[in-house]
Amino acid sequence: MAAENLRFDGRVVIVTGAGGGLGRSHALAFGARGASVVVNDLGGSTTGEGASSRAADVVVEEIRAAGGKAVANYDSVLDGEKIVETAMKAFGRVDIVINNAGILKDVSFARMTDAQWDLIFQVHVDGAYKVLKAAWPIFRKQKYGRIINTTSAAGIYGNFGQANYSAAKLALVGLTQTLALEGKKDNIHCNVIAPMAASRMTETILPPDMLQSLKPEMVTPLVEYLCHEDTTENGSIFEVGAGFVGKLRWERTGGHGFAIDKTLLPEHIQDKWAKITDFEDGRATHPTTTSESMEGIMANFENVSVDDSARPKVVSADGKVDVEAAKSLSFDSDVFEYSERDVILYNLGIGAKRTDLHLVYENNDAFGAVPTFGVIPSFTAMNAVPFGEILPSFNPMMLLHGEQYLEIIKPFPTQGKLTSTPYVVDILDKGKGCVVTIGVKTADENGDDICVNEFTMFIRGSGNFGGKKEGTDRGAATAVNQVPSRKPDHVVQEKTSEDQAALYRLSGDWNPLHIDPDMAAVGGFDVPILHGLCSFGIAGKHIFKTYCNNDAASFKNIKVRFAKTVNPGETLETSMWREGNKVIFQVRSVERDAIIISNAAVELQGEALKAAAAAPAAAAAPAAAPAGAFKSAAAFDQIAAGITAMSSADRQAQVKKIKGIFQFDITNEAGQSTQYFIDLKNGEGAVGAGPAKNKPDVVIAVKDATFVELASGTANAQKLFMSGAIKVKGQVMLATKLGDVLKANKSKL
Ligand code: NAI
Repeated sequence: MAAENLRFDGRVVIVTGAGGGLGRSHALAFGARGASVVVNDLGGSTTGEGASSRAADVVVEEIRAAGGKAVANYDSVLDGEKIVETAMKAFGRVDIVINNAGILKDVSFARMTDAQWDLIFQVHVDGAYKVLKAAWPIFRKQKYGRIINTTSAAGIYGNFGQANYSAAKLALVGLTQTLALEGKKDNIHCNVIAPMAASRMTETILPPDMLQSLKPEMVTPLVEYLCHEDTTENGSIFEVGAGFVGKLRWERTGGHGFAIDKTLLPEHIQDKWAKITDFEDGRATHPTTTSESMEGIMANFENVSVDDSARPKVVSADGKVDVEAAKSLSFDSDVFEYSERDVILYNLGIGAKRTDLHLVYENNDAFGAVPTFGVIPSFTAMNAVPFGEILPSFNPMMLLHGEQYLEIIKPFPTQGKLTSTPYVVDILDKGKGCVVTIGVKTADENGDDICVNEFTMFIRGSGNFGGKKEGTDRGAATAVNQVPSRKPDHVVQEKTSEDQAALYRLSGDWNPLHIDPDMAAVGGFDVPILHGLCSFGIAGKHIFKTYCNNDAASFKNIKVRFAKTVNPGETLETSMWREGNKVIFQVRSVERDAIIISNAAVELQGEALKAAAAAPAAAAAPAAAPAGAFKSAAAFDQIAAGITAMSSADRQAQVKKIKGIFQFDITNEAGQSTQYFIDLKNGEGAVGAGPAKNKPDVVIAVKDATFVELASGTANAQKLFMSGAIKVKGQVMLATKLGDVLKANKSKL
């Protein structure tokens, strides 16, 4: 049991409508914790008829009988100044006002009279106003005040038959939020509760067993807490009842900004409706002030249109396609925000096992996504391309995913925000249909490209538009990869799970074809089929393990052709042939003896190439980095020079301030690694190559190029850390001083 140390000795509390229900509970509680209480109640009926002094008197008696101090007041809250006067006369001050009095006049809006509307506003809104208006100068003068207003779920969400009551109750939320702002400088705090409790107001509405659990005493403690002098909460809304207490806030979608220099039509709104109302796209925010509320609007001031009449028309009236015009179109980018959880989910979706710790356990040193993860951030962007704008008679049911090309520019951080932008690579006329290739470029938070995808789709029925039949050679993206006649160098078999598609779709491809038997039947399949990009990921995973030793920097690109569909549960067999820097592969469904991925290859780079080129013994030895292979070497030289240039006293001061040994494990693009240390713990500090002489307090793993950016001040240490570009072990707090260390020593140069 918590000690009852939230006391109100010497404080004076006004509780309106305290003759029964919630108000009575509040009044008794404050009385029991040392406050002097003004028990206000008009003593009328729930619907506001009649008056009696009895209700208030009984509660005053109860407080006194328990040893507390209380006086009664029988005025209506509309005479708020008289209630405050009662407090001043009896106790000489007012510290807390609980606006709780209330009545109902429930009736459908159609039958509501002006009198019913007005009366509800008077009691709830005018009443609260009147009491506060009289107490406010006292609060300001004494530089102290605590206010609770009482709203209702009916106000926040609406309730049938309570148009008057909901409107009045939400008015109290507005009043609370403005008083919280105006009162803040004078230590006046104002919060609002939406309670749920058994009282005469609710006893006819709620079933008896519910009323049992809804004791007013389960609401009051929140009121007491919020009114305590030590509580700083201000301007907040709470839902409370039956022991539950929760805070409410606003949420706004990322929305859509239309160009301000163009006429905005309702059709434009209609077009963007999904985006305007999307709370789940990672762009939603929780504004708490009017200036935050205006952020979206202000930002849009600079949203000047790209001239749409200049947007080339791709499909002519007679159904011809201008492919060059299509290539020049630009489309909306898509933001993909992901966490380690999404990486694990993807890896599991392509068959990672619980024992593949580098794929399923975020704390594993080598944790990361299989490089085929690169298709995931680009998927929504590709899907958002308006095919109707670039093809005559487009029907999505006629679309087949034919080929996929993915090039990795930088290994994926294990979490972050990626922006993908689609574009048209080519449209080929194959007579019966057409082949459309959509490229998607994906960049990280610094704007650096991280991967490129090319989705090649065959669209039945969209051909014969007068276009060319053959595309241009785009290197690895279009290379024909025939398997050699010799036996494969490596073969890996993996049985997929019956639930593989159900799991894979959670990474972002929600097409019902992969889960819903009825939709699969419409598509002409016996069962929901596995995603082509799932088989692609599984094969990619096999090569990643066999040839790249699970090192993302060794995986340059992958290209596949989807030859046949796969049913979840089938065994996939990846056969691999190493040809120079390429691994040519194909994937077979073992049960059906059918090639399901053909014409496929992965290009290797970095360590994977070296490992194959060198003799096995040499490959096993760690690669020694040749001199000059690390750009960060110069940066460390500069830092060393910076420290040397300092006075001895400055050096000692720096050591006293930082008190830490940093070790840097640096890897370059070729996959070689080296170590440096900065010792700002011993003597006057030291910088050098190799591992730290004394045990490091923090070990920082970072790419060579990233360290150079860091040291030159073009990158932010915190951001890199958050995005996973810097990995920190040991005293993480010390790593937060890294930015300062680099800056301080560089500035001395
Ligand atoms: P209640 O009817 O037991 O208490 C309201 C009290 O206010 C009564 O004692 C009544 O005599 C008094 N009152 C009415 N008009 C007055 C006036 N003009 N001047 C002074 N006193 C007046 O009802 P309950 O449930 O305790 O309600 C308390 C507050 O909580 C009300 O503002 C109500 O709207 C609000 N509320 C209650 C919910 C609940 O589940 N009980 C749900 C949402 C809001």
